[in-house]
Amino acid sequence: MRQKIAMILIFTLVPTSFLTIAEKNGKKQTETLHNFYTSKVRENSKIDTSDFNPASIDFSEIEITADKGKKENERIKRLPGQPKVEFKQYGGYVTVDRSAGRAYYYYFVEAHHSPRSSPLLLWLNGGPGCSSLGFGAMEEVGPFRVHSDARTLYLNNFSWNHAANVLFLESPAGVGFSYSNRSADLKSTGDRRSAVDNYNFLVNWLERFPEYKDRDFYIAGESYGGHYIPQLAQTILYHNQNPNHINNTIINLKGIIFGNPTINDETDLKGMYEYYESHALISRQTLDRILRYCDFTDSGNGLSTQCLIGILESERNTAALDVYNIYAPTCNTSPTNQAMNFDPCTDQYVHAYLNRPEVQQALHANITKIPYDWQACSKVIGEWQDSPATVIPLLKDLIAAGLRVWIYSGDLDGRVPVTSTKLSINLLKLNQTTPWLPWYLDGQVGGYTQIYEGNLTFTTVRGAGHEVPSYQPSRALFLIKHFLHGKHLPTSTNLTLFSSSHY
Ligand SMILES: *[C@@H]1O[C@H](CO)[C@@H](O)[C@H](O)[C@H]1NC(C)=O
Ligand SMILES: *[C@@H]1O[C@H](CO)[C@@H](O)[C@H](O)[C@H]1NC(C)=O
Ligand SMILES: *[C@@H]1O[C@H](CO)[C@@H](O)[C@H](O)[C@H]1NC(C)=O
Ligand SMILES: *[C@@H]1O[C@H](CO)[C@@H](O)[C@H](O)[C@H]1NC(C)=O
Ligand SMILES: *[C@@H]1O[C@H](CO)[C@@H](O)[C@H](O)[C@H]1NC(C)=O
Ligand SMILES: *[C@@H]1O[C@H](CO)[C@@H](O)[C@H](O)[C@H]1NC(C)=O
Ligand SMILES: *[C@@H]1O[C@H](CO)[C@@H](O)[C@H](O)[C@H]1NC(C)=O
Repeated sequence: MRQKIAMILIFTLVPTSFLTIAEKNGKKQTETLHNFYTSKVRENSKIDTSDFNPASIDFSEIEITADKGKKENERIKRLPGQPKVEFKQYGGYVTVDRSAGRAYYYYFVEAHHSPRSSPLLLWLNGGPGCSSLGFGAMEEVGPFRVHSDARTLYLNNFSWNHAANVLFLESPAGVGFSYSNRSADLKSTGDRRSAVDNYNFLVNWLERFPEYKDRDFYIAGESYGGHYIPQLAQTILYHNQNPNHINNTIINLKGIIFGNPTINDETDLKGMYEYYESHALISRQTLDRILRYCDFTDSGNGLSTQCLIGILESERNTAALDVYNIYAPTCNTSPTNQAMNFDPCTDQYVHAYLNRPEVQQALHANITKIPYDWQACSKVIGEWQDSPATVIPLLKDLIAAGLRVWIYSGDLDGRVPVTSTKLSINLLKLNQTTPWLPWYLDGQVGGYTQIYEGNLTFTTVRGAGHEVPSYQPSRALFLIKHFLHGKHLPTSTNLTLFSSSHY
């Protein structure tokens, strides 16, 4: 039974002016995560926080759905406003549950060069409930970005399809263009349902794109992807070892990589306040109050007035910031005031673009006339059923199974900051095999890196917020290339394997 700080009180106690600012300026993906944690640690939360274990999940619904989707019909000839490109793009639906009428939307871009020999990379955004098409594809690692006119696209020169064939999946049903015809599904989703559906999607997508069946497969993502990714990886390994009714599908999973991930509730929260204090956002007294009086553990009884005072002080001081990149301008500032090379109003352009009927038509999306508009983070998904308090046991299993596991951290993120991730990694109790060293790109420090037993690699990306590829696109591409090649990041300025001008 979870009895933690009643964070919900914050929302009744904080003056509404702070909340209004936060809402107007906040990035949707991260707002969603914040609100989710608020409800998760509520005293009377109904969310099941027990560990994820595929052996205890009923996979009987998984089936080859044999839906009518055909690869060639899903080829996207050209998106409205798109510059000319040579690689192929696809978009469409894969049924994940026939009886419910539940279908997942995917957007797939082949690699710029050698798609036949490049690996397959699945990208998953977090939330829970946020869109991998809106964030991942259109703001982070996809080939295009949306201009401020919300009508034309420009090339992202650091798109990850310079390194892999990249598959973006809107998950679970109720996110973006993914839907269910059984409305009750929107009220019964959670981590376990997402893992089952994600796996079901993959098996069926591979039936449609069989040339990828034996391809090296990797999963990448960020934020609440820290749950989805190891859970899906564990589900894949489980089925690879227990081939069954689903045509004995073996998925050639080689590794997972995730950025600023939610890993372990207690350390995620503790590290967040430590980051605020070490970055001069809150006072030492406020941090001391929080560390002393707040119990973020699953079994604790953390509710105390002193704890709440500390949290309120922290909210007061951070509410007008974009805590997902503490140094970035917010969308209401004048465009000339951009400190970062990323337009803080991008969410708005993407929202407008993806809601245009001709864009949806080109994407083969919303073919069933979904009765609500496309949102970057779902407004229709109801109560989340289950969200384990920790994925540490999963990470241990995956490392032990020989999977390549990398964790990266944009060092300007205040929501799931580097301090949280370091505390969480400590829980794995792995000895380090290299010292903490800077890594380099084009003669500049790109971040810091350390390798642990089992080859777990932890890496920071200097100058990046929560959405690392948005803020540091060339460092992010450099990182993913090294991950996919199983190569250490260069800790000497001379050893650069792939320079930024060579992609
Ligand atoms: C959902 O319902 C629509 C309208 O009846 C139908 O066209 C569509 O095929 C259904 N989706 C699935 C996945 O069965
Ligand atoms: C992307 O690369 C092209 C070709 O090298 C170049 O013309 C363009 O300016 C680059 N765009 C950005 C935003 O850097
Ligand atoms: C997968 O299994 C189904 C029956 O379970 C069968 O109809 C179908 O042909 C199989 N597909 C492949 C590619 O083997
Ligand atoms: C789907 O299309 C309908 C009708 O054109 C539109 O009202 C709705 O907003 C769209 N939904 C999504 C998720 O794009
Ligand atoms: C980790 O390092 C400590 C101290 O060097 C050593 O005692 C311990 O055996 C190491 N653990 C493993 C699993 O190698
Ligand atoms: C770690 O990487 C090294 C060098 O690439 C390799 O020899 C070793 O087998 C790997 N260990 C594990 C546990 O994967
Ligand atoms: C790096 O390159 C410079 C000159 O290009 C050389 O003087 C230096 O010794 C090199 N350092 C290492 C660590 O190889």
